[in-house]
Amino acid sequence: MTTLTSPQTDLIGQLRAICGTANVLTHEDPSADLSPWEQDWRKRVHGRALAVVRPGDTAQVAAVVKACAATGTSIVPQGGNTGLVVGSVPDASGTQIVLSMARMNAVRAIDPANLTITVEAGCVLQNLQAAAENAGFLFPLSLGAEGSCTIGGNLGTNAGGTQVVRYGNTRELCLGLEVVTAQGEVWHGLSGLRKDNTGYDLRNLMIGSEGTLGIITAATLKLYPQPAAQLTAWAAVPSMEAAVQLLGLAHQRLGPGLTGFEVMNQFSLSLVDKHYPQLRVPLWQGTPWCVLLENSDSENEQHARSQFEALLEAAMDSGCVRDAIVAESLSQARGLWHIRESITLAQVQEGLNIKHDISIPVSRIPDFVAETDALLAREVPGVRMVDFGHLGDGNLHYNVQAPEGGDGKAFLRDFEDKVNTLVFDQVKRFGGSISAEHGVGELKAGKLPHYKDPTALAMMRAVKKALDPKNILNPGRVLT
Ligand code: FAD
Ligand code: MLT
Ligand code: ZN
Repeated sequence: MTTLTSPQTDLIGQLRAICGTANVLTHEDPSADLSPWEQDWRKRVHGRALAVVRPGDTAQVAAVVKACAATGTSIVPQGGNTGLVVGSVPDASGTQIVLSMARMNAVRAIDPANLTITVEAGCVLQNLQAAAENAGFLFPLSLGAEGSCTIGGNLGTNAGGTQVVRYGNTRELCLGLEVVTAQGEVWHGLSGLRKDNTGYDLRNLMIGSEGTLGIITAATLKLYPQPAAQLTAWAAVPSMEAAVQLLGLAHQRLGPGLTGFEVMNQFSLSLVDKHYPQLRVPLWQGTPWCVLLENSDSENEQHARSQFEALLEAAMDSGCVRDAIVAESLSQARGLWHIRESITLAQVQEGLNIKHDISIPVSRIPDFVAETDALLAREVPGVRMVDFGHLGDGNLHYNVQAPEGGDGKAFLRDFEDKVNTLVFDQVKRFGGSISAEHGVGELKAGKLPHYKDPTALAMMRAVKKALDPKNILNPGRVLT
């Protein structure tokens, strides 16, 4: 056990006075297990917190930040701790506090005429979707971690997910924020305005800043009408070129009805089949790629089905689809989505891997994949590509698994840097981004200076210095 310094003991006393003793957990209490807040989802890092602090309202968050600022204690904001780039757990020093937003989970208001909902940052995404649905609306953000990630974390990372092709990233769904600054002041920016040109866009500065510029305590978000019908199809395609061709046809034929377009390579589906055989993956054995498409219709199911059938017929005629199924019921559709969303977990079951979350202009993806696959096969023989993702957004999870039977830990130790450099250099050559939707966190912070425009990086550093001059908010994440 580490001995606390007297300022640290004083700080913990203050934090307890602010949030209540039960809401400040420390290692001093031998019965308290802080691992769930200290361990990241991918088990890449296990940090050690000075304390886990769980405020119950915005005033408490502000008071906690003021107390930390006064002692120069750094703060790691945490929502559901499902982030994939090591951004929400403390470092190993035992000097940082984890600020868990989980208790701030209320739905504050719904404004049906303005099509908005206002929620606290710790609201779990699935609960937010349910609150919108109960009021007769759709909140379209959707991702595999929705049962545990929070809207604060979604905003912090500007999460993407599976509906971006129609509704945009989290950024596009947000109209206003309430934020506690690094000085412990509260910015009351919960406007539901769709137009506001009164100067710099602070809302968009905060979104995607991964807890390094401010702590989001609440948000006003856009609601949409529920679609009258939603249909899902699964298609076997002969190549990535064919998948891109199918995407073009789907845009043309479905227009704004196209709400999801996901691609999965054969190896990623073979992992789902191997680790979750009960899920019955369709059409994967005889094809290098499968595509999952969703059509949301504002008329009715009949209309959606005939549109979908016409699209698939045209795609088969042109040769970009070899075989396809259209889900007959909601539960079949959910089953298909469940297969797609199980790839992440199947990959965890298979062992440690090198994850990439990249974006490339859609038109260039086939060449990127062909060239980069070949380079990897030459440089690291035997690697297995778990390649899947949101093709509709030009976003691939271009992941690299150790050769069959290889030790994942040793693979990461020996090859992670080499593989990352190879893939990121290719991404740069193809005009892409090394983080499409997961963020930078600690995992990619060291790589950013090599791949980000230097002027953009200098402006980012200037913003960080201006808003958080003491560098107490999530230091070492995004910027090193
Ligand atoms: P956390 O992991 O707790 O935090 C993430 C970052 O946000 C950290 O830097 C943290 O400091 C900061 N943060 C958290 N709360 C706040 C706050 N209130 N104010 C300021 N900063 C804050 N991501 C996608 O984009 N698309 C996907 O499809 C997707 N699918 C996933 C599937 C699985 C199975 C898993 C495990 C993860 C997936 N993710 C995906 C990644 C992850 O779920 C998202 O990044 C999500 O937005 C994180 O939310 P969280 O509440 O868990 O945030
Ligand atoms: C997904 O699209 O499933 C997520 O971003 C998670 C992942 O990349 O594994
Ligand atoms: Zn994703």
